Amino acid sequence: SSKDARALLALAPVIPVITIDRASDAVPLARALVRGGLRAIEITLRTDAAMDAAKTIIAEVPDAIVGLGTVLTPADLDRAKQIGAAFAVSPGCSPDLLRAAAAGDLPYVPGIQTASELMACVNAGFDVVKFFPAVPAGGIAALSSLAGPFPSVTYCPTGGIGETNAAEWLAHPKVIAVGGSWIAPPSAVNDGAWDAIESCANTASRLRSA
Ligand code: 3PG
Repeated sequence: SSKDARALLALAPVIPVITIDRASDAVPLARALVRGGLRAIEITLRTDAAMDAAKTIIAEVPDAIVGLGTVLTPADLDRAKQIGAAFAVSPGCSPDLLRAAAAGDLPYVPGIQTASELMACVNAGFDVVKFFPAVPAGGIAALSSLAGPFPSVTYCPTGGIGETNAAEWLAHPKVIAVGGSWIAPPSAVNDGAWDAIESCANTASRLRSA
C-alpha cells in the first residue's frame, strides 16, 4: 500500500539518523548525504532545529527523501504530513500512534523490541518495523528469533550499529536496511565536516554489494 515504507527503505542499505542542532546545517548536510548515495534520511525530532531542518531540506534538496524520526505521538505524525515528509519513524509503538498511522497514508515505520510489539504492529497493518535499540536488545540473534513467528515482517535495525557491524546485520535476509547516527554524528555536523560525511555515506551506500 502507499503507507508501506518498504520501497523507501530499499533505496539504500543505510538510513542516516540525523540529530541536528542548527537548521543552517541542514542543506549542506543533506547534499553531502545525497552525493554519498544515501537519499533517504531520518531527521529526529529531538532538537528545536529539527522541524526547520526537515522543511528546508524538503524545499531545497529535492533528491533527498526526508523522513521524520522520534515520532512519539499522533501530533508528531501530523507534523510530518504537514511539512511533506516522505515517511515517519518511531522508536517504539503505541496503540494511538498505530491507529493514527493506519488511518493515514504516510509511509510509517513503527519501532519494536518484543514479540508483543510486533503483534501490535502486524495487526495494525505494518510489516516493516524498526528494531530498536538493535544491539542492546540482543543483536542479530534476537532479531532472528523474533523473525521466526513473523515471516512477513522486514526490519530496519537501529541502535548500536556502525561501520564495523552494519554488514553483518545487512546479511540477515529479513533486514531491508539499517539505521544509524554514525554516518553523520552530531560532532561531524556541528563541525561542518561535509566531505567526511559524504565519504562515510559513500562507503555505507556500497555495503550491500561489498
Ligand atoms: C535512533 O534514534 O535511531 C538512534 O539514536 C540511532 O542509534 P545510534 O545512535 O546507535 O546509531
